[in-house]
Amino acid sequence: MSEQPRQPRQPRRRTAAGGNGKPSGPQGGKQGKPYRRPQKDPVRMLAFEVLRAVDERDAYANLVLPPLLRKARQDESFQARDAALATELVYGTLRRQGTYDAVIKACIDRPLREVDPPVLDVLSLGAHQLLGTRIPPHAAVSASVELARVVLGDGRAKFVNAVLRKITAHDLEGWLERVAPPYEDDAEEHLAVYHSHPRWVVSALWDALGGGRAGIEDLLEADNERPEVTLVARPGRSTPEELLEAVGEESALPGRWSPYAVRMAEGGEPGALEAVREGRAGVQDEGSQLVAMALAAAPVEGRDERWLDGCAGPGGKAALLGALAAQRGAFLLASEKQPHRARLVEKALAGNPGPYQVIAADGTRPPWLPGSFDRVLVDVPCSGLGALRRRPEARWRRRPEDLEGFAPLQRGLLREALAAVRVGGVVGYATCSPHLAETRVVVDDVLKGRGAGASARVSAELIDARPYMSGVPALGDGPDVQLWPHLHGTDAMYLALLRRTA
Ligand SMILES: C[S@@+](CC[C@H](N)C(=O)[O-])C[C@H]1O[C@@H](n2cnc3c(N)ncnc32)[C@H](O)[C@@H]1O
Repeated sequence: MSEQPRQPRQPRRRTAAGGNGKPSGPQGGKQGKPYRRPQKDPVRMLAFEVLRAVDERDAYANLVLPPLLRKARQDESFQARDAALATELVYGTLRRQGTYDAVIKACIDRPLREVDPPVLDVLSLGAHQLLGTRIPPHAAVSASVELARVVLGDGRAKFVNAVLRKITAHDLEGWLERVAPPYEDDAEEHLAVYHSHPRWVVSALWDALGGGRAGIEDLLEADNERPEVTLVARPGRSTPEELLEAVGEESALPGRWSPYAVRMAEGGEPGALEAVREGRAGVQDEGSQLVAMALAAAPVEGRDERWLDGCAGPGGKAALLGALAAQRGAFLLASEKQPHRARLVEKALAGNPGPYQVIAADGTRPPWLPGSFDRVLVDVPCSGLGALRRRPEARWRRRPEDLEGFAPLQRGLLREALAAVRVGGVVGYATCSPHLAETRVVVDDVLKGRGAGASARVSAELIDARPYMSGVPALGDGPDVQLWPHLHGTDAMYLALLRRTA
């Protein structure tokens, strides 16, 4: 039975030699064999650079990669297909890291943690080319060995060569049969290795999803797909028709659920669209659009004039809420604790057709008067386990103990949101995590007055959120809703709607 895959994107412990311990560089070659300079392959070099940044500096691949690609494109010989391959190598290697670690581990005679991190990055990149792409095996091995010669030296390149040659013995399925335990022996570990997720994440997602093997397998696989870029046409500022035309008929599709959504099915650069540059439209997952729309659609008793987004940064939902509020003549206060993120909210709301204000404030010690809003959204900080498709390295960085850190903040923000809304008004509690400890358990605790700070409890009741996501199937038994990548094509957003009763 295989061990739990290492948590690979922790800073990796350095060893003295890393590879086979032999000296690197020209002198490492066979005696008498003429020295050949290693070939620099810009695609693999770039992919390696991103993996190192992710590993060493805790960088986010989706932030590091685009500027490196832009720089590489300044050289005419680096073409669009090179950029596509570099992107695939980076994202694929990071996503499938757990599986590749298990395979690499089976091919070496020491613990993975004793292999130098840069060596492991070259091996993982090679493993992805061999097991996760159609690159012919000989090309995958030789490109990886050349990369190793450039970035690690000739000695360690030999180690890379030996390991990758072992990997060529089987295809991905063949390796998985060898390195993962049978499902019947240890279902979670089997799924963790097959679908490259940390075991605790498999366990948490399965708890939240329920059901049998097929559902969780579909979810884990959906997490390994690159999500489509989805746009939102902010109502009153642009239209889906305008976006469909701008993106082009061949590659644009209407949203699945949101009337404001347009999907860029073939990818593309949203920043090149005029409506996006002018802030009349934005990039926004349909799950986030549905959350903002549901909060706006839920009925409130009486006046409907003052809306609050209590955790607004960077401003995606605030911009949609602002546009929806404007259609009703309502005012939106968008509040965000971090000043630099509040500035992003300002940017997202600039040009909003109705009245709004952006402030930097701590939602657990709010400056506003209790009971002064008719609708309140708190899209609280969370583990982000519902957005694993977007951040390929995130699953390896998160730890179960992170949830304990979020717990008091999530409860405090929901409690203050309930205090901020007037009796008869509605609060939306949202997370982009389906983890029950961040969703139902938080709502339950706050409603039952459990946990620190509970003395300031106000009375509220859950209302069925499903009717306010009309047309969206498979929303569960209610009253809260949980969206899923494999069922809805969205991030796994959670929403509970609560009405203040006293
Ligand atoms: C999940 S994000 C919100 C995303 C946002 N609703 C959107 O759609 O763009 C959570 C935000 O809450 C902010 N935050 C964290 N602690 C907070 C607090 N005590 N009060 C208010 N905002 C807080 C974070 O800085 C982060 O920007």
